[in-house]
Amino acid sequence: MKGLIIVGSAKVGSHTNALAKYLVGQFDNHDIDVDIYDLAERPLNQLDFSGTTHPTETVKANTKDFQDKVMEADFLVLGTPNYHGSYSGILKNALDHVNMDYFKMKPIGLIGNSGGIVSSEPLSHLRVIVRSFLGIAVPTQIATHDSDYNKLDDGTLYLDDEQFQLRAKLFVDQIVSFVNNSPYEHLK
Ligand SMILES: Cc1cc2nc3c(=O)[nH]c(=O)nc-3n(C[C@H](O)[C@H](O)[C@H](O)COP(=O)(O)O)c2cc1C
Repeated sequence: MKGLIIVGSAKVGSHTNALAKYLVGQFDNHDIDVDIYDLAERPLNQLDFSGTTHPTETVKANTKDFQDKVMEADFLVLGTPNYHGSYSGILKNALDHVNMDYFKMKPIGLIGNSGGIVSSEPLSHLRVIVRSFLGIAVPTQIATHDSDYNKLDDGTLYLDDEQFQLRAKLFVDQIVSFVNNSPYEHLK
């Protein structure tokens, strides 16, 4: 079993990335290999069918690698900061580079972080997107706030809230259970 967590923040070293890293540790407890694709570290080009933009070779390679990783994953986690009450345009642009063949009947977890008033609305919006990809959005989701994190001496953020750590365990258990007991294999 292999998973992929997509992080859609504009910031390298984001809270959403810290949450993704915490989840990787939880998946590791199940001996499950999970990669993080952080779109701030490895950006994609804006979706462009007309060739009016000129992505660098690195960005082109990122896009191909992103598509391959999404296709190979047995499950996905979509991670987003709250931008204007919704998920980020960066994440939406990345998702526009794939289609339902990449998502069909795969369990999808939703995670996000807000800096203002904590909100799960970005995740509700993502739930609608997942349906259009024919993915299976799992019921438990994680919507944190900046104040749920702390910093190591080198400035690296980590998830420091006990309640959210517990929720992260439940979230991961749920995704693993969905993948192991999928009744949807024949619908892929
Ligand atoms: C373009 C933009 C729009 C934002 N809109 C909101 C918002 O509507 N509500 C909110 O709570 N925070 C908003 N924020 C703040 C982010 O949610 C906050 O910076 C958060 O820490 C981002 O998480 P991250 O570190 O994972 O990127 C916005 C930030 C940006 C850059």
